[in-house]
Amino acid sequence: MGVSLPAPPEAREIFGDALPAAERYVQFLAEAGVERGLLGPREVDRLWDRHLINCAVLAEVVPDRASVVDIGSGAGLPGIVLAIVRPDLSITLLEPLLRRTTFLTECVTMLDLPNVTVRRGRAEEVGREFSVDVVTARAVAPLDRLARWALPLLRPGGELLALKGERAAAELKEAGPVLDGFGIRTAELLQVGHGKVDPPTTIVRVVAERAPQRAAASKRSKRRKGLK
Ligand SMILES: C[S@@+](CC[C@H](N)C(=O)[O-])C[C@H]1O[C@@H](n2cnc3c(N)ncnc32)[C@H](O)[C@@H]1O
Repeated sequence: MGVSLPAPPEAREIFGDALPAAERYVQFLAEAGVERGLLGPREVDRLWDRHLINCAVLAEVVPDRASVVDIGSGAGLPGIVLAIVRPDLSITLLEPLLRRTTFLTECVTMLDLPNVTVRRGRAEEVGREFSVDVVTARAVAPLDRLARWALPLLRPGGELLALKGERAAAELKEAGPVLDGFGIRTAELLQVGHGKVDPPTTIVRVVAERAPQRAAASKRSKRRKGLK
């Protein structure tokens, strides 16, 4: 017999008509996800609040019909959750490990998510393939490294939305030199999910200024010419 994981009332509010898909995903994570070592057994009891709802509230700040790359999706967090709750988005799940991309592909088929593509690869190696509106990531790398990977995947004006925990402000400060090097437009902390998840989810939002390769090249060229 499978584990019983009834959806809490907030999940009903957040997922609405998509709740049955979210319930199937939770069940798959609790069974196949744990069996295949993608999720620790101790996470099962907190799948709804710590994982599904924590990721779903990110949808509050993703623009309509955005193209999204989710770096380091793992078992599909936040990418699969976003795809369930926001069918208007086109989402690429970027993940280097075969075991995980296999799991993700099974999720996409099982949940019938036509808005999702699974791409096996490392973020730092696929920059030329993407020019998307939004890059998301949770628990993948400290912000300075994540910014180096994410900013080359964004179009000018595109946004990195990184789900972060208690160290969000410290990571933002530490990433300052990297962000300055890319010539970003803004970098800020946001909180989403008030009244739905406790504590609310903290997000670092970084808005890209222009094509990062060009920004870096122009800086190098100015340095060669002795300009500031
Ligand atoms: C701790 S897991 C987090 C998974 C998921 N985002 C979550 O919140 O449950 C980190 C994931 O990042 C992936 N990863 C590590 N290095 C990466 C890279 N260079 N590019 C893309 N993904 C990477 C790992 O394979 C792993 O699936």
